[in-house]
Amino acid sequence: MAGESTSIVILGATGDLARRKLLPALFQLACKERLPRGLRIIGFSRPEYTDEAYRELMWEGMQEFTDLAVRKDRWTVFSQALSYLGGDFGAPKDFTRLRQRLEQMEGTEGKANRLFYLSIAPRFFAIAVKNLGASGLAAEDTGWRRVVIEKPFGRDLESARALNRDVHAVFDERQVYRIDHYLGKETVQNLLVFRFANGIFEPLWDRNCVDNVQITAAEKVSVGDRAGYYDQSGVVRDMVQNHLLQLLTMVAMEPPVSLDADSLRNRKVEVLQSIRRWTPDEATHGTVLGQYDGYLGEADVAADSATPTYAAFRLHVDNWRWQGVPFYLRTGKAMADKATEIVIEFRRPPHLMFPMSPGEDLTPNILSLCLQPDEGFHLRFEVKVPDQGMTLRSKDMAFHYESAFRDQAIPEAYERLLQDALEGDPSLFIRSDHIEEGWRIVDPLLQGTENGAQRPQIYEPGSWGPEAADSLLAEDGRTWHRVCGVHGDVDA
Ligand code: BG6
Repeated sequence: MAGESTSIVILGATGDLARRKLLPALFQLACKERLPRGLRIIGFSRPEYTDEAYRELMWEGMQEFTDLAVRKDRWTVFSQALSYLGGDFGAPKDFTRLRQRLEQMEGTEGKANRLFYLSIAPRFFAIAVKNLGASGLAAEDTGWRRVVIEKPFGRDLESARALNRDVHAVFDERQVYRIDHYLGKETVQNLLVFRFANGIFEPLWDRNCVDNVQITAAEKVSVGDRAGYYDQSGVVRDMVQNHLLQLLTMVAMEPPVSLDADSLRNRKVEVLQSIRRWTPDEATHGTVLGQYDGYLGEADVAADSATPTYAAFRLHVDNWRWQGVPFYLRTGKAMADKATEIVIEFRRPPHLMFPMSPGEDLTPNILSLCLQPDEGFHLRFEVKVPDQGMTLRSKDMAFHYESAFRDQAIPEAYERLLQDALEGDPSLFIRSDHIEEGWRIVDPLLQGTENGAQRPQIYEPGSWGPEAADSLLAEDGRTWHRVCGVHGDVDA
């Protein structure tokens, strides 16, 4: 009887992402029996490997890069699905060989679906897509065809538009899955549950109750062995245009009608459309860019590089809900700690009836949504200190995934995203209009750094970035908060 088969073709199959994330995620999905039956995984990259040598390379990656307790016997069974073809992303004849190989594996009976995963350097996205089209690999003659495209999608608005055009020349938008792995994180998806499956927070979620919102994505690691890529990209392309703006849209969006991909993505795009555009002057003077001391000494970094490794800035979301509420965002490498968190600082009570020293004020309530590595949330509120008159103290009420779901490991982001792509659910992938809006927001910032108008300020590795980032909030009478992972009463 004619059945249905599915193949994933990983372009860039020997690279870091494939070894660290994609293959481990696929293996986990296989262990959970969540992959389509008989799934084939075909690696396609320039180096030459036999199927067996490729399996071995991936097995080494699993051991080197993951904490998974991998049973070799399970891996051996899973790895039978893996095969490999050496080829050049720019060579049409190699794509013809890929098509022939696939057709041979698929046979002529039944439906044969194909998911192409572009885990390749961004400069090859357009040519690889073109070759997928020209070789006939993308034709939906025997089953569905989808393409997953890694970030960064474009280098600015103009190049992202051009890339969208190139991609749409071969694939319809419904077939295109632009990935941002932050959306695959459980704690990021939990933002939707937190906001829209609880009745108590949403009424507070607007300019009447919220004073400001802070989004931090701090990393302890430096650029390490990725400097060759990073020096050409910098923090704005690497983290801001995608991950940070995704987090912002999840926090600021209106409730979607359903979780259906377009309902969700429409609401997110509306947030980006509401963000007040920077004038070139605001982009230069109202933002802080930093570079950690020692960056210029990293291998593959240009000796006079002005590439920023840190960014902090203020955005305004000009809509009914958020008018007048600043959103402060910051992200950087080589910082004091790894912490991704969203802080909602609420307004203080309007009237102060408790005894305070002159100049003292109530500490505002703070809700911290902890995305990683602390996973959960903290709600900070004021309590009366026992037996000390009306002395107040701030305390936290906390929820942690680790203690609340002891037996359930949090999966890697790529597991969920690969599964969704295989199942044809693009909700957690980025639509073309979202990508373009994102670039429209950050383009002035990129122009400022690239035309030399703004040079990054040097900050100490292991710090929280340049002091100017504190001044940015101090100008507004505010400070950065750090709550997640810091137990006790005090801000770090
Ligand atoms: C990637 C960036 O997209 O995200 C990296 O290219 C960054 O530079 C990484 O380190 C951060 O991801 P995570 O999941 O560790 O927060």
